[in-house]
Amino acid sequence: MNRFARFLFCFCLVITFGINMAEAQGNREPAAQDFHSYANPAAVRVRHLDLDWDVLFDQKILKGTAVLTVDRISPTQPLILDTRDLNIEKVETSLDGVNYSPATFTIGSSDKILGASMTIPLPAKANRVRIHYSTAPGASGLQWLEPTQTAGKKDPFVFTQSEAIHARSWIPLQDTPQVRVTYTARVRTPRQLLAVMSAENLSGPARDGDYSFRMRQPIPSYLIALAVGDLRFKALGSRTGVYAEPPVIDLAAKELSDTEKMVVTTERLYGPYRWGRYDILVLPPSFPYGGMENPRLTFATPTILAGDKSLVSLVAHELAHSWSGNLVTNATWSDFWLNEGFTVYLERRILEAVYGHAREEMEAALGLRDLNEDLATLPDPDEILHIDLKGRDPDEGSTDIPYEKGALFLRHLEETFGRARFDRFLRSYFNHFAFQSITTEQFVAYLKLNLLSKNPTLAERVPVDEWLNKPGIPASAPKPVSPAFARVEEQAMRWLRREVTAEKIPTAKWTTQEWLHFLKFVQDQVSKGFVGDRIVLSVPPGTAPPAARMEELDKAFHLTRSGNSEIAFQWLLMSIRNRYEPASPRLEEFLLSIGRRKFIKPLYEELAKTPQGKERALRIYARARPTYHPIAVASIDEVLKWKS
Ligand code: BES
Ligand code: ZN
Repeated sequence: MNRFARFLFCFCLVITFGINMAEAQGNREPAAQDFHSYANPAAVRVRHLDLDWDVLFDQKILKGTAVLTVDRISPTQPLILDTRDLNIEKVETSLDGVNYSPATFTIGSSDKILGASMTIPLPAKANRVRIHYSTAPGASGLQWLEPTQTAGKKDPFVFTQSEAIHARSWIPLQDTPQVRVTYTARVRTPRQLLAVMSAENLSGPARDGDYSFRMRQPIPSYLIALAVGDLRFKALGSRTGVYAEPPVIDLAAKELSDTEKMVVTTERLYGPYRWGRYDILVLPPSFPYGGMENPRLTFATPTILAGDKSLVSLVAHELAHSWSGNLVTNATWSDFWLNEGFTVYLERRILEAVYGHAREEMEAALGLRDLNEDLATLPDPDEILHIDLKGRDPDEGSTDIPYEKGALFLRHLEETFGRARFDRFLRSYFNHFAFQSITTEQFVAYLKLNLLSKNPTLAERVPVDEWLNKPGIPASAPKPVSPAFARVEEQAMRWLRREVTAEKIPTAKWTTQEWLHFLKFVQDQVSKGFVGDRIVLSVPPGTAPPAARMEELDKAFHLTRSGNSEIAFQWLLMSIRNRYEPASPRLEEFLLSIGRRKFIKPLYEELAKTPQGKERALRIYARARPTYHPIAVASIDEVLKWKS
C-alpha cells in the first residue's frame, strides 16, 4: 500500500468507526419530530410532576394543581404544553419551589386530534410552574362510571387511559413519549374508595380518602395512570398482586395466579424487572382495551377472566411491556411497532416458557391469521411498520401491523441468527436503551452494529428495509405451524362435509385457542361457499344455509351461551354474518355490557353492512353509548356515522 492508500484506508476506518460510535450512541441525538405534540422539549423540558387533585364524582372532574419542574435548555424560550379541554384557572412560576408569582399564559386554537397548546413565558431562572386547573366531564382520557356500571353497584368509579395522546386531557404536560418524567401525586377521594396509580403507594394500607404516590423512574406521559373505586387487593406473590371490586377479586386472583411465575420467567429471559411491584387492576367491563401496561400496575379488562386461565396471554403481554415499551419506549407514534411488535414477540416467548411450545404456536398462528386479514384490507401505506402518521390520529396506527408484523420481524431475526444470539442481543438492547425513548432509525443502527454486522452472511437473509418500510410481508417471513390446529381443520372439514355430526367432533380437550381456530376456519369455509353462498343464492345439494349449520353447532356446544369473551365474540360475529337469529338477544346483551373496543367495533361494523343490521346497531348503540368510554364512543360514532 502506498502512503496515500494507507491514509485513505485509515481515514475510512476512522470515519466508519466514528459513524458506528455515533450510531451506537444515537440515543443522545435529538429524537425525531413528534407530530402529535405541541411541546418544545428541545428548549424547555419537563423533568418532574407534582400532582394534587380532588376527585369530584358529583361533577365528574379532577380539580387541583400540577407543578412542573423544568430544565431550561434555551433560557429565553417559553414552556409549551399539550392540553385538551382543560379548564385552566391560573398559572404561577417559581425560582425555588417555595415562592410562586402569578404568570401569564396563552391557549392556542383547538385541534380535533391534538387539542390545544398552552404557552407559558418563563421569567429568567424560573424552573417551576404551578397550574391550577380542572378537567372537563367529557375528558377523553377519563371514564366516570355510575354505580350501576360497576360490579358492586354501590359506588362510582373513575379510571384514566392516557395512551396514545389522552394524558393531555387530564394533566397539562408535554404529551410526547420523548419526554420522561418522574412524579408524585396526592389524591383525595370519597372516604370509602381507594385510589391506585402507576406508581408506588406511599400512604400505606389505610383507606381514608387521602392517598399519596411516587414514581421514581422517569416515564413517558402515556404511562401516567389513576383509578378510583371500591377496590380490594389480593396478593399473588411476594411482589405481585391484583386489585378488583369485591365481587370480582376472588375470581381475578384465581385466574391470574400465574403472574409471579411470568415475572420470574421474563426476568430470566430479558433481565431484571426494574419497577418494584407488578400488580394488575381488573377494571369494570367498559375499559376500552384488553390491557394497558401502566408501570407497576397493569390495567386489564374483566373479559380475560374466562375461568380457565385461557386468556392470560394478556398478562404476559402487558408484563412484557415492562421491558419493551416502558423501559425502552417509542420516541414517536410512528415507532409504535417498537413498543408493540417487541411486546408481542416477548409475550409469545413468555407463553412458551410458562405454558409450552404448542400453546405458543397456536397463539402465533392466530396472530398470523389476524395479520393476514389486515394485509387483505388495509391500504398499502398502513401496512408499513415505520408508518407515517402525520396529520392523523395515532390511534389509526393501532392495527395488527405494529403488533403482528412487528413480532414476525423479530421472530425472523431469531430464526436467522439463532435463539441464543438473538436473546443476547435483546438483553443488551434493553440495557443499552433503558429509560430512553428511541426511534426506528436508532433501533436499526443498533441492530446493524450489534447483530447484523457481526454475522454478515446471515444478515444477507434479512431484508430489513423491506420489513420496516414496505407494505406486505417478505416472502421469507416465518410461518408458525400448529399441528393442533391442523387436526382441528381436519375435524372441521369432516363436519362440514357431513361425514360426522357436530356431537361427534372430538372437542372435549380443545383449548380456547382451538375453539377460536375452529370457528374462524368454519367461517372461512362458509364464506368460500362451502355450505352455500353467504347470501344463500344457491344452496348446493346436501348442504344447508350457514345459519342452519350454526344451529347444529349451537345445539351441540351451546356457543351462544359461552362465557368465554373471545369465543362469544367470534360466535356473535359469525351470527351476524350468517344471519343466525337465535344469537340476537345475546349479541344485544354483549354490546350493552362490554365496552372493549376490539370486540364491539367489529360487531357494529358487521351489523352496519346491511340496512336492517344498521338500524339494529343504531337502536342498540343509542342505549349502550352512554356506558362506553370516550375512546370507544369516538370509534363507534365513526362506524355508525352517529351524530350526537
Ligand atoms: N398499549 C396497548 C394498548 C393501547 C395501544 C392503548 C395503543 C392505546 C393505544 C396494550 O399493551 C395492548 O396492546 N393491549 C391489547 C392486548 C394485547 C394482548 C394485544 C388490547 O388492548 O387489545
Ligand atoms: Zn401492547
